Amino acid sequence: MPDGPRSTSAPQERAALAALRAHHEEIGTAHLRDLFAEDPDRGRRLTAEGAGLYLDYSKHRVTDTTIRLLVGLAEEADLRARVEAMFNGEKINATEGRSVLHTALRRPRGDSLIVDGVDVVAEVHEVLDRMASFARSVREGAWRGHTGQRIVNVVNIGIGGSDLGPAMAYEALKHFSERSMTFRFVSNVDATDLTEALLGLDPSETLFIVSSKTFGTLETLTNARTAREWLLASAGGDQAAVAKHFVAVSTNAEKVAEFGIDPANMFGFWDWVGGRYSMDSAIGLSTMVAIGPERFEEMLAGFHDMDTHFRETALDRNLPVLTGLLGVWYRDFFGAQTVAVLPYEQYLKRFPAYLQQLTMESNGKRTTLAGVEVQQDTGAIYWGEPGTNGQHSFYQLIHQGTTLIPCDFIGFCRSLNPVGDHQDLLIANLLAQTEALAFGKTRAEVEAEGTAPELVPHRIFPGNRPSSTILARELSPRILGTLVALYEHAVFTQGVIWEIDSFDQWGVELGKALALRILPELSGDAEPAHDSSTNALLERVRSMRRETAE
Ligand code: F6P
Repeated sequence: MPDGPRSTSAPQERAALAALRAHHEEIGTAHLRDLFAEDPDRGRRLTAEGAGLYLDYSKHRVTDTTIRLLVGLAEEADLRARVEAMFNGEKINATEGRSVLHTALRRPRGDSLIVDGVDVVAEVHEVLDRMASFARSVREGAWRGHTGQRIVNVVNIGIGGSDLGPAMAYEALKHFSERSMTFRFVSNVDATDLTEALLGLDPSETLFIVSSKTFGTLETLTNARTAREWLLASAGGDQAAVAKHFVAVSTNAEKVAEFGIDPANMFGFWDWVGGRYSMDSAIGLSTMVAIGPERFEEMLAGFHDMDTHFRETALDRNLPVLTGLLGVWYRDFFGAQTVAVLPYEQYLKRFPAYLQQLTMESNGKRTTLAGVEVQQDTGAIYWGEPGTNGQHSFYQLIHQGTTLIPCDFIGFCRSLNPVGDHQDLLIANLLAQTEALAFGKTRAEVEAEGTAPELVPHRIFPGNRPSSTILARELSPRILGTLVALYEHAVFTQGVIWEIDSFDQWGVELGKALALRILPELSGDAEPAHDSSTNALLERVRSMRRETAE
């Protein structure tokens, strides 16, 4: 439960929660060993399939009753109606008064959705067409730099959703990317990020995509200005070079023009696309240049597959609903604080980082839509690393530590790089981990191996550590789309249960405002006026800088 004062006007608790609490009392300590022994079919039955993904949730601490009760909770929260409200463009982002329509970004050409008198699907395809012709001209060498050189380097400048999605998607789909080109991603205001990204690049062959929904983000504008100076320094200060080497992705045409980018070179999107839900909007321009418009379209089709599955499939067979509800089960009934996401696919190495923003910026909230304090824990901490690397690092704690960490294992039957027996070893490890986590190793088993008595307690694995296994054939653009949409909708499901606004992010504002106040104090232009710790730290930075300047 969150700290701090409780609201006195707490809402009436849902009946399903009381039933779930009673059920948790009954089965909360049941061991997966026993659940499997009593129900030999559960490994086949507690599964769901859709949009090219297979979900095995049998290694969770649930029974059929648990799923029935969790689905009852979703029904009581009116999940179905909330899903329809989202897909139809109602202003469900209440604190910002906005529709939430990332699902419109992947609706097929010819579909129509009228929101506030505008066909948003038609607008989406208009932008997609402009992106496609731009991406083609860069890939084919028709779009040239200021001096006539072919563009071979693309640097995306953005942060948060304007970076994590494109950076993750580029890594995930590198196999399909144009290998004669270089793609880099700059986000941090730390100049090291930009400096390192530009190392070895020839400005005359480099295109910057400045990605920012608001075009007001300090980090992005600072990096974009420095990148522009870098370009101009090599172009003898000729401002005309900017038009050939800078394009923008934004919802804010005015600010783009103010920065000096020709609005003709701007790709727009809309306030109904949240930053962390934007990798399939124009924010995906770098992805499209990397993999080509056709592959990008396949990715959108994958998103749409999962949208359709989410909207149309019964709740108890619905992958995002089950994933979201299992998250609620562990967070609110077992007190689990984190979820580990463990892709057994090197190309998904940035996927956990991407999910961190998606899940934690969305559901890291403590106030309900009605404006009162939540009565249960909300968003878990998401983290992870690709397998098998994590096995040789933090899995020890998941197996034998004192903290319960539900895990999502993600695996692919075929490798995009089929070499020797690597893929068999990879998949064998994935399956072995889920088995070891669920069933552990008992004292009797350890003793039967002839283990020295003093080592026996160290070699016991308690098991009963829950995991989902998500399988797909191979990591294609289409499957990447379905996978991302799976988590988007799981996050939404949880937000509905918790009655929070999963689409705002007020929690990032305070730090931004304070940083602007601290900035002039750092250089000594203003007197520090904070608490004694912040004042002393500021003073220490200033004195250390004076020393290093001497
Ligand atoms: O500060 C958080 C945030 O607003 C994210 O939600 C967003 O993805 C990121 O900053 C970048 O914002 P923008 O695309 O407007 O630069």
